[in-house]
Amino acid sequence: MTAEIIDGKAFAARLRGEVAEQVAVLKRDHGITPGLAVVLVGEDPASQVYVRNKHKQTLEAGMESFEHRLPAETPEAELLDLVGRLNADPAVHGILVQLPLPDHIDAEKVIAAIDPDKDVDGFHVSNVGRLATGQAALVPCTPLGCLMLLRDRLGSLSGREAVVIGRSNIVGKPMAQLLLRDSATVTIAHSRTRDIEAVVRRAEIVIAAVGRPRMVTGDWLRPGATVIDVGINRIEDPEAGKTRLVGDCDFESCAAVAGAITPVPGGVGPMTIACLLANTLTATCRAAG
Ligand code: GUN
Repeated sequence: MTAEIIDGKAFAARLRGEVAEQVAVLKRDHGITPGLAVVLVGEDPASQVYVRNKHKQTLEAGMESFEHRLPAETPEAELLDLVGRLNADPAVHGILVQLPLPDHIDAEKVIAAIDPDKDVDGFHVSNVGRLATGQAALVPCTPLGCLMLLRDRLGSLSGREAVVIGRSNIVGKPMAQLLLRDSATVTIAHSRTRDIEAVVRRAEIVIAAVGRPRMVTGDWLRPGATVIDVGINRIEDPEAGKTRLVGDCDFESCAAVAGAITPVPGGVGPMTIACLLANTLTATCRAAG
């Protein structure tokens, strides 16, 4: 079997287009322009790339983008003060503090300071609890993007066997909650799971979110499974004499067994910012009542 490639890049472009259309309607009919504030502390190169892309795509969607770049040595109190001001600013509908934060800043404390109704990352415990209890929540962007790709490919997820590999707060745990909300049968596998290959082999849906390059190989998969690869790992490529990006799945061997698979890059990655824009629109609409 050769898997169908799930084109996350094209799906994300469509989603951004839909968000832009709704932003235009909101402006025309209600005079409201959604505003997204992104806070970057320090100079982590990967974070700088993300923040630049977010800024560009926010503007392209017709939204306002407020960028706050702070030096790495910014005191925690100063960052908390900025979050407080963004919470109070009516032009700001969504707030994202880019992670990781420098070591001297307590990320949990910063996330807790964000107004849950502006928490477009969905990391605040109020949103985590709302998602877990089936209330209207802002949902973390990467798992939300994975869910959209799965629904698009499979239709109803009800009763399907899903295995999430990885138990992070940002991807694994919310992914499991979203699948459960769609009535899938959900297992979370992780570094302590016994015979992880056998657990993954049961799954019609596999979500790999561990951050270990090419960990999942084709022999782990049930034939025809739908595989969503969240991993973005930079590895040395001695043949090409440079580095390249690979996922948590070994693409060639997995694509030979799976029914469908997301590539890296061009799979889940572009969905994250598109879902961030969708969350900002959701937060704006909820704020407007
Ligand atoms: N760093 C890497 N991914 C993310 C994300 O989705 N949100 C935030 N805030 N920081 C990140």
